[in-house]
Amino acid sequence: MKFFIDSANIDEIRTANELGILSGVTTNPSLVAKEGVSFHERLGEITKEVSGSVSAEVIAEDAEGMISEGKELAAIAENITVKVPMTLEGLKAVKALSDLNIKTNVTLIFNANQALLAARAGASYVSPFLGRLDDIGQDGMDLIATISAIFDRHNIHSEIIAASIRHPLHVTDAAVNGAHISTIPMKVIGQLVKHPLTDQGIEKFLSDWNKQK
Ligand code: E4P
Repeated sequence: MKFFIDSANIDEIRTANELGILSGVTTNPSLVAKEGVSFHERLGEITKEVSGSVSAEVIAEDAEGMISEGKELAAIAENITVKVPMTLEGLKAVKALSDLNIKTNVTLIFNANQALLAARAGASYVSPFLGRLDDIGQDGMDLIATISAIFDRHNIHSEIIAASIRHPLHVTDAAVNGAHISTIPMKVIGQLVKHPLTDQGIEKFLSDWNKQK
């Protein structure tokens, strides 16, 4: 499983990229709004920083508007992936954009049929939102396992991005259940690195080292 960062904050993206673990970035309108910067300028900065896929979401709700926004976004850099919401209009836009060889990420997926439809329309990526399902008492991880089984069984090549990740266990379980990618907030990336026994071990090694005569 590969790691993406779920952020529009350039400092976070740089920090994660320096770790050498980053294969891409996902943004969404809420993450961009928090930054208070021009969306297109920020995408320019991010795509210069990270060579992997950078998902940028369209705002239009009709297919025609999504396609035209998608083309504009894709013109910013080669590694832009156009993020499209899971709607009937969104599916039409995914088909049109994929016919133009523009990569797409279908977002806000909450059941397996939505993922299958998105894949058949030509989506490069599908993004089931684990955390938001858990929030309403449904099992987000079950959804990853089901989508993974369907895609394997039918030889579908769209990649599954485990999204709406809230804690380290989501990351491990997404990997076990067949997600190709987890897109993770910076806070959780930091948590993945840490273990109290690692910290204690470093402290002990150092104190033993300093006892040398
Ligand atoms: C993914 O592409 C989304 O941007 C993101 O994972 C949503 O996460 P949230 O449910 O924490 O807002």
